[in-house]
Amino acid sequence: MAPRSIIIDCDPGQDDAVALFLAMASPDELELLGITTVAGNVPLALTERNARMMCDIAKSSAPVFAGCAKPMLRDAISAEYIHGETGINGIDVFEPETPLQDQHAVDFIIDTLLGDKVTVTLIPTGPLTNIATAIKKNPEILPRIEEIVIMGGAMREGGNRTPSAEFNILVDPHAADVVLNCGRPITLMGLDVTHRVLSTEERVARIGALNNPVADATVGMLSFFHRYDTEKYSSQGTPLHDPCTVAYLLQPELFKTKCCNVAVETESELTTGHTAVDFWHVTDRTRNVNWAYDIDADGFYALLTERLGRFPL
Ligand code: BDR
Ligand code: CA
Repeated sequence: MAPRSIIIDCDPGQDDAVALFLAMASPDELELLGITTVAGNVPLALTERNARMMCDIAKSSAPVFAGCAKPMLRDAISAEYIHGETGINGIDVFEPETPLQDQHAVDFIIDTLLGDKVTVTLIPTGPLTNIATAIKKNPEILPRIEEIVIMGGAMREGGNRTPSAEFNILVDPHAADVVLNCGRPITLMGLDVTHRVLSTEERVARIGALNNPVADATVGMLSFFHRYDTEKYSSQGTPLHDPCTVAYLLQPELFKTKCCNVAVETESELTTGHTAVDFWHVTDRTRNVNWAYDIDADGFYALLTERLGRFPL
């Protein structure tokens, strides 16, 4: 089967970086047409630089585009207290050779969707500003979107940035509202799933044993990423949120999902960014989202480790 054409829209972020590596390691299944970046974990100037660094480390030729520097309506919120001031603390920063493309990420998304690929799957692992802006700017792209596989939201887990909201949805709830209601197939990987894929010491050690530059960078980043979440959740490792999206495209059988309505709170001061998941179908609202609610965590790490092992020493 021909590989699925994808665009990863991200805000690296250690876990975004691992999602990029997982996709780059999987060319038989995924054709990475481009990487678009958005302000999120750290400002745009750092997310685009970090994405280019990952291309250098993995020797990927995927083009990198910078997108929106702030959410559609709200002020930017970032997360240096989790990811460090570079966004990818845990590895040394360098000036990448991978160039930044001149085109704005939103225009790249639009042009690619209207181009010669029959359909393209979008994988947003940061705030949804770029994707929503592209949909608003040119709704003709909609039929060309095969699926949108998003890291964002929470139901049973509650929020990680406010009591109600997961970070990516909180940063730009208006964009999330546009994307979740765009009418295209959407799969949502929320905290209910991502909090189950903990990067325990044994799992990270198995990646470290691969001894290639991509695995080394992954271990470096995860070692830093650990410190905040293990204290916060008293857990044995940090949740590897963003790679769940790519893993879903590679091995959907690792996940349990249910089609239900998901709505985003955009107005309440208290609960902005909350994803109201109608898991038990108690409303007659349209079932707009394939909501992921369980994952085979060992299977996920087996996949990740096997794929990272494909990079040369
Ligand atoms: C999400 O927020 C960011 O901190 C991570 O990169 C992930 O995309 C988890 O809430
Ligand atoms: Ca992210």
